[in-house]
Order: sequence, then structure tokens, then C-alpha cells
Amino acid sequence: MSTATLAEPLSRAKQLKASTHTAHEKIDKLVMRHEPFQSLESYGHFLRLQHVFHGALEPVYLNENLNNLLPGLSQLNRFPAVEADLNDLEMPIPPSPEAAAIGSAYQALGWLYCSEGSNLGAAILFKHTRQLNLHETHGARHLAAHEDGRALHWRAFVQQLDALELTEEQDQEVIAGARAAFDFYRDQLHRVYGEVA
Ligand code: HEM
Repeated sequence: MSTATLAEPLSRAKQLKASTHTAHEKIDKLVMRHEPFQSLESYGHFLRLQHVFHGALEPVYLNENLNNLLPGLSQLNRFPAVEADLNDLEMPIPPSPEAAAIGSAYQALGWLYCSEGSNLGAAILFKHTRQLNLHETHGARHLAAHEDGRALHWRAFVQQLDALELTEEQDQEVIAGARAAFDFYRDQLHRVYGEVA
């Protein structure tokens, strides 16, 4: 009998990670290039960017069908926390952003992957907010870990996502959705910082 083993196919979440690795690296660099934690003013610009992203996704987090697929989803919505952060810092709350234009429920899953994953990297950003004297109940609420811990929450989300039975075409839509979410974030970043340049 041959001892050769076939490579395990990547899980859905791992495939998403691989498909958006380059987009993530670019976003990470772009965000940090604008030194979001250098002053409260620059943090305010970053909060406006987060406001657009999480605001555009709020309808997805609250969508009933998606909540049936991913129980507990609505509790992960970070838009109210972004608004509370702006409020804490007495910064004007921008008008509520338009809902993201998302082609299908499968694409929405990709957008959610992007948004939920961003909460992992938020651990680093949250630490930086200390230098501005911000914390989980003042100004940095939306970057704070969930009370069960960041990793546990992420693992639970990934488990839910990986357990969904999808066709190959639907899986391609999930990936397209994740890529579209990164593109959206990048475009909004250029718009927000273009306005303050
Ligand atoms: C300066 C800004 C950012 C930094 C420094 C950063 C850093 C990180 C780090 C270190 C991880 C891996 C954490 C771990 O495995 O424990 C991560 C994961 C992730 N980040 Fe970011 N990130 C940033 C911004 C963003 C943004 C803006 C988005 C989305 C729009 C994003 C989406 C993701 C996703 C989807 C993952 C999960 C990757 C996976 O599948 O494991 N990140 N980030």
C-alpha cells in the first residue's frame, strides 16, 4: 500500500485567508501609514473609516436569514460601538453609511469573514489606543475583545462558517465577497484620507 498521503483540502476559512492574504497585507500597511494612533485627531479619521465599514455591514449582521445560518451573528455587530467611540471623544457622528452593495447571501459570508477577521488584528490596534488613554469603555470600545476572548470568538465563527454546506460555485461567491470587502475598505480608506489631505 502506498504511504503517500493526499494533501487535505483547505477549510473554507483557510481558503479565504489564502485568497485575501495580499489584500490584507496592503490594507494593514495603508492603515498604519496614516499613523492612526499618533494623535486623537488622526484616531478620529480612523474612526470615521471604521464607521463607514461597520455601518455598511450592519444590515448584514442584522439580516434574519444570515442569523439563522450563523446563530448569534447580530451580537457581533460592532457599528454601535464605533458610534459610541465617536461619542466618547465628542466627535461628530457622520450620517449612517449606505448598506454595502452585496450580490448574494454567499458573498455576504465573505464580507463577514473580512469583518470578523479584522477583530483579530484589532488586538494590536487596541494596544496602540492605550497611548491615547483610550480603553474598552472609552473611545476604543469597537476594538476591544469580546468578553469570551478574541480567539475563542473567532474560532466559534470559523467553525460556523466551515460547517456550512455549500456548492463549489457558492464557495467561489464567498471568496468574491471577501475580496470585495477588502476592496471596499481600501476604497473608503482612500476616500476618508483624501478628504483630510
Ligand atoms: C493596521 C491594521 C491591521 C493590522 C495590524 C492587522 C493585523 C492582523 C493580524 C496580526 C492578524 C492575525 C491575527 C491572528 O492570527 O491571531 C489579522 C487577521 C485578520 N485581519 Fe487584520 N489587521 C489590520 C487591519 C485589518 C482590516 C482593516 C481588515 C479588514 C477590512 C482586516 C482583516 C483581517 C482578517 C480577515 C483576518 C483573519 C485572517 C485569518 O483568516 O486568519 N485586518 N490581522
